[in-house]
Amino acid sequence: MSNNTNIIGIDFGTTNSKMAYWFLDEPHIIYDNNKEVNTPSVVYFKEDGTILVGKDAKKNLILYPERTVYSVKRKMGFKHRYHIDNDVYPPEYIGALIFRELLTIAKTQTGIEFNEAVISVPANFSDGQRYAIKDAAEIVGLNVVRMINEPTAAALAYGLHEEEKKTILIYDFGGGTFDVSILIVEDNFFNVEASSGINKLGGDDIDERIVKYLQDIIKKEYAFDIQKNLKALQLVRLAAESAKIELSTSKSTTIKIPFLKTKSDGTPIAFRHELNRKTLNGLIKDLIEETEKPVMDVLKNSCFTLNDIDEIILVGGTTKMPIVKEFIRERFGKDAQSGIDPHEIVAIGAAITTIEDFSLKERNKISPIEISDVVPHSFGIRVFPNDIEKIIHKNEKIPISWSKLFTNVAPFTPELKVEAYQGEKETPIKRNFLGSFLIKVPPKPIGSNKLDVYFEVGKEYGILNVTAKDIDTGHERAVRLEAKGRLSNQEKMKWIKKISDENFVSVIICDKKQKIETTLFISQKQTIDYILQNLMYRKFISPNSTQSPHLYFKKELLKKEQKLANFSSKDYLRLELKYF
Ligand SMILES: Nc1ncnc2c1ncn2[C@@H]1O[C@H](COP(=O)(O)OP(=O)(O)OP(=O)(O)O)[C@@H](O)[C@H]1O
Ligand SMILES: [Mg+2]
Repeated sequence: MSNNTNIIGIDFGTTNSKMAYWFLDEPHIIYDNNKEVNTPSVVYFKEDGTILVGKDAKKNLILYPERTVYSVKRKMGFKHRYHIDNDVYPPEYIGALIFRELLTIAKTQTGIEFNEAVISVPANFSDGQRYAIKDAAEIVGLNVVRMINEPTAAALAYGLHEEEKKTILIYDFGGGTFDVSILIVEDNFFNVEASSGINKLGGDDIDERIVKYLQDIIKKEYAFDIQKNLKALQLVRLAAESAKIELSTSKSTTIKIPFLKTKSDGTPIAFRHELNRKTLNGLIKDLIEETEKPVMDVLKNSCFTLNDIDEIILVGGTTKMPIVKEFIRERFGKDAQSGIDPHEIVAIGAAITTIEDFSLKERNKISPIEISDVVPHSFGIRVFPNDIEKIIHKNEKIPISWSKLFTNVAPFTPELKVEAYQGEKETPIKRNFLGSFLIKVPPKPIGSNKLDVYFEVGKEYGILNVTAKDIDTGHERAVRLEAKGRLSNQEKMKWIKKISDENFVSVIICDKKQKIETTLFISQKQTIDYILQNLMYRKFISPNSTQSPHLYFKKELLKKEQKLANFSSKDYLRLELKYF
């Protein structure tokens, strides 16, 4: 079994990212120099070309809002672009800069060069969003061995040493997303019953409400609109967040902004306002109440009632607000428990996931960990006349594969088009389109072709793979549906080159016998042996195979010690895997 100590667990958050790793049979949070777990997910592009990430970048949100990017997680998987000076950056590149900073902190604090990661994502993230996060990590040469849903990670952290069977509800209210899941935890078996959530609801929205409230006051007092002055707006934003955090422990706080703006005569406008918890609660009550529907949905989908829930576990910074705990108590009739810091719990779970399938029983510590997660959205294909026929349904267990037979609706056509969609809608809509491909079939009358369409959602990433096979000819096509808006391999290479001093090469491994392919992004310093170990770790190569695996480049057998730098093709390398 490969050594797991160079795998890091990362909770890539909308506002803050956190890290943990498994060491000496325990998960450990990685704190920075200031003993803080949170690295703000903020990137500042300095005019001289320097890039700052984390706390230093967050400070510049005030002075250089137009050069500072925050909440990039909300844009992951969308065609959004950031324009800074004359450069245009995709969210994946901004994400990569954050991952790079995290790896630097991790290396300084632990001395370990982490090159593989388990990354947590919101349970209801779509294929495109998952790909974007994976691509961001790969741009800095971080191989993503698995993506774990955030609530599942939290359950792992909570239930690692829990022997008694319990039904738990994970209530995760972070900076940008709200997620809820119900799991059954028993002796290190983590069974996700159902998940739901709101992709765009979090602490950021609470801050916005406070900003709006202060904006109105400032308008009245100084006849000045902060929306028209980016610097003032950022000052108010930061003050709003600080006041909110303060009001989680105090009943009242004074918001002080000494230099909100300078008047025309050069004197500063100082702003001061007393905000109490009651007023704050009034401003945001409806946002907290929005969390009720997803909670009710997961209960309904998993056929549980509130009485069946043994524990409600709090995750995410926003759950530190007293109003959230009160809401849970009133609405669900239960006190939530937050034994583990709601900020750290997901990263700890991601670190535990790095040892999944790693039997600690042999070392008499704990039972092997088994996770059974669910599909966040249904997946289906477009059928005549204009419907979606679902093949995999929301909340079915991962890994899952399912196939269905389809036929031609036009006579004597030489090829059939398979169009895949995700989501719960019964009709195809653009927003839910995943991708399409064509497959050759023998021309036949209407209803005579037999096309077997096979859908599979693997446990590693929760991403859909599709295969279609024409039964008559045996002709088969396996495709990785390129999620809409996903970076092409070429674009990805461009960003890899931009970010790294050393050169990376994209290595495509194909196993012709099993008709499978995978792409790795690997430093040119690495050897063929490293690739083989990597493939074994990812279970691309079976560790139990009686034959040993070998890699070939253009029919030439490669030696284990050979370095990637020795190949002439620098950007892209296609290797074939064979056993003998
Ligand atoms: N003590 C506190 N009281 C209230 N809110 C807090 C407190 N501490 C942090 N927050 C808020 O929690 C949010 C960040 O939480 P967290 O770090 O869990 O989110 P995230 O992981 O970045 O986001 P997400 O999980 O949605 O991607 C921010 O909006 C922050 O202002
Ligand atoms: Mg989070």
